[in-house]
Amino acid sequence: MRIVILGSGRGSNAEAILQAQSAGRLGNARVVQLFSDKPDAGILALGTRFGVPASYLDPAPFKTKLDGEGEQRYIAAIAACAPDLIVLAGFMRVLKPPFIAAFAGKIINLHPSLLPSFPGLDGIGQAFRRGVKITGCTVHHVTAEVDGGPIIDQAAVRIEETDTLETLAAKVHAAEHALLPAVIARLAAAPA
Ligand code: GAR
Repeated sequence: MRIVILGSGRGSNAEAILQAQSAGRLGNARVVQLFSDKPDAGILALGTRFGVPASYLDPAPFKTKLDGEGEQRYIAAIAACAPDLIVLAGFMRVLKPPFIAAFAGKIINLHPSLLPSFPGLDGIGQAFRRGVKITGCTVHHVTAEVDGGPIIDQAAVRIEETDTLETLAAKVHAAEHALLPAVIARLAAAPA
């Protein structure tokens, strides 16, 4: 299973996937390419560390969505990798129908809340401010509805009275780092 990872940030979830791969926990899945829409994103530094090609890919002209020329650049570059699975690990852009259709059924996203609660930006902060006692993270198939595709798996995180936004974020990230590689390993093991 050939995996392409897209990310915009520090890349801690891409790192968890690559560590699982190095430890032999991903079965026959293999990350073949990392792409970022931010030239200085931490995720790109993982390429050298893990020996995986990592490139900035210009998402212009839009700021928060992948559309128009940028979308076509992403479709062409990703298609050239012949991926079986595209993992959105902190890719902070809305994907539009042409991209989703180009890789139908092959795109999964990680979201830092128990969807359908708290979709969109800052899932951790939304849950913290709302005062829920349990939040967590979700891996789901990507459809045209933002954060609305079929849920593959979730992990719960309890919010204690003593938690701050920072301690909660650390707990949710730890849950993500376990959940996402485990989901990928299961998808790699599933019969096609
Ligand atoms: C993760 O918490 C992920 O759930 C979130 O971005 C973070 C990326 O961290 N994604 C979203 O909010 C998508 N809507 P990372 O760059 O360290 O992996």
